[in-house]
Amino acid sequence: MGRVNRGFGLGGGGQAVTIRPVNSSPLGFFDSGVGGLTVVRAVQELLPSENILYLGDTARLPYGSKSPETIRQFADEDVRFLIAKGVKAIVVACNTATAHALPSLHEKYRIPILGVIEPGVEAALSCPDALRIGIIATRGTIHSHAYQHALALRKTGLLIHGQATPLLVPLIEENWIDHPATRQVLKTYLDPLVKKGIDTLMLACTHYPLLIPILKELLPPEVRLVDSATTCAEHLKKELTRLGLLEASDRVGSLEIHLTDLSEEFEVLARQFLAKSPGRIHRAVLGG
Ligand code: DGL
Repeated sequence: MGRVNRGFGLGGGGQAVTIRPVNSSPLGFFDSGVGGLTVVRAVQELLPSENILYLGDTARLPYGSKSPETIRQFADEDVRFLIAKGVKAIVVACNTATAHALPSLHEKYRIPILGVIEPGVEAALSCPDALRIGIIATRGTIHSHAYQHALALRKTGLLIHGQATPLLVPLIEENWIDHPATRQVLKTYLDPLVKKGIDTLMLACTHYPLLIPILKELLPPEVRLVDSATTCAEHLKKELTRLGLLEASDRVGSLEIHLTDLSEEFEVLARQFLAKSPGRIHRAVLGG
């Protein structure tokens, strides 16, 4: 039996519900779609005993083109869904939601909530030679300047170039990963960054790890690719250890996926992002 932790009340005008998670309670993840499963995959590798509950807001995907207010409202509903399911901590496995909603979620909820930006920035700056940093992400993430600020706060003298790449998510969702159209679009997006002489490219969107093989072909070999999934998993482990919330059992944890819209395409994509069968996918109803 896991240790009993403090309760996390939903409050906020809704019905007051106090959940008391234990160490075996699931970790909650949410993303606008199934891209956040790249983070789940990294967490499963590092913390195989953890039970995981994943919410993908596929009915309202993409978040990357929505206004900051809308993203904050969606993220709030996502968090409430996960808290009501009794999770012990939450990972915002979506760059756009982290960029726009993490501070307001921290203000409103007592449950530990981690985003993907800090881990990504830490991963990018772990190499002392990283000086000219390119960032590719949704329009929402680039316009929030969250990555640019986080990088500049940690290291002075960096040259930072943000490039919004809004066509990439639809191309990946369409499974046009190794397709001439995707290569052409990528080339158009990357050319200005290459001309600026970037030494590091941050993949600041959950979907982009699937493009790594093509990016490696298109970019000069000296450009380092950084994605936040592995560092995010390490951050989560540190945080759970600090809070005494790590699952102690040595059996393999479960993964339960909930999507606000179910379709066969999402199942195919989920398999790709996870690199294994996603199991039975449940339909999530938010705001209940
Ligand atoms: N999950 C989003 C992100 O990481 C990409 C998809 C979207 O635009 O919703 O920014």
